[in-house]
Amino acid sequence: MTGLTVRAPAKVNLHLGVGAPRDDGFHPLVTVYQAVGLYDDLTAREADDWQVGATVSDWIDPAVVPLDGDNIVDRAADLLAAHHGIERSGELHIAKEIPVSGGMAGGSADAAAALVALDRLWGAGTSDEDLLALAARLGSDVPFALLGGTALGTGRGELVAPVADRGTWWWVVVPSAVGLSTPEVYRHFDKMFPDAPSAPVPADALLEAIASGDPWALADALHNDLEAPAIDLRPELGRLIETGEAAGALRGMVTGSGPTCVFLCGSADHARSLAAEMSGAGNAVVLAANGPVAGAHLVSYA
Ligand code: C5P
Repeated sequence: MTGLTVRAPAKVNLHLGVGAPRDDGFHPLVTVYQAVGLYDDLTAREADDWQVGATVSDWIDPAVVPLDGDNIVDRAADLLAAHHGIERSGELHIAKEIPVSGGMAGGSADAAAALVALDRLWGAGTSDEDLLALAARLGSDVPFALLGGTALGTGRGELVAPVADRGTWWWVVVPSAVGLSTPEVYRHFDKMFPDAPSAPVPADALLEAIASGDPWALADALHNDLEAPAIDLRPELGRLIETGEAAGALRGMVTGSGPTCVFLCGSADHARSLAAEMSGAGNAVVLAANGPVAGAHLVSYA
């Protein structure tokens, strides 16, 4: 084999309960992730040295893609190579479609795709358990990018358990031109909620809504504790959510730490018509995606 392409999805947090910071600075989470159909594709080819390049969808600013030698893909390769006692090698190319610094775990998707692709390219045969453990060391959302589907996340988000989800949920996704820093949003949460309880809000209502398969029930149950700090940092996000709901979204919300906003729709047709209306209302980039979809997976041999 000389090369292969692995595809990894973006995530939406259907429920994001955040507790007071732990001693290690991370926040305890109870979250429900859903993988949605926006993807980064990572192609890895055999090479003697190590190179990483990227191209982006036409609406993403290439200047915001960090390829400065300490990006998460380099770190994924280093961890996997060290795990097997080998030198990293390969020529990698990332085709980005997931908003950068958008709260949709685009960097985590690239890390998960790199783990899966390099494991195959190097014939390393890493067990699923070891791959998940390496993923957790790379970032809180990386294990979920491997798993995909709909999943309950606990710990700092890295402990993932699949949730049965027979629904197909439709989303309109509105990225912002300028990203938000995740640590900054968490710091702002601490400032706004100095008395946050150590135990995050549980996800029971959200899990019931998923089991019901009813988009209106899901709309009622969506919950994000990082929405208030994200809107406080970027008041225009509050106005965007109001506009989307006035245009007929069942519910709009900030996803993860933002600034991307997602709008739940009742059907594929509803998502298409809402996307058209929100584009017409002057939002430069409006996407539609459904979930749940698979985690990082091989799509072709290059
Ligand atoms: O785990 P990850 O590298 O994605 O986290 C990025 C940053 O987000 C952390 O350095 C931390 O500031 C914040 N974070 C947090 N609590 C979490 C996850 C992330 O405070 N559960």
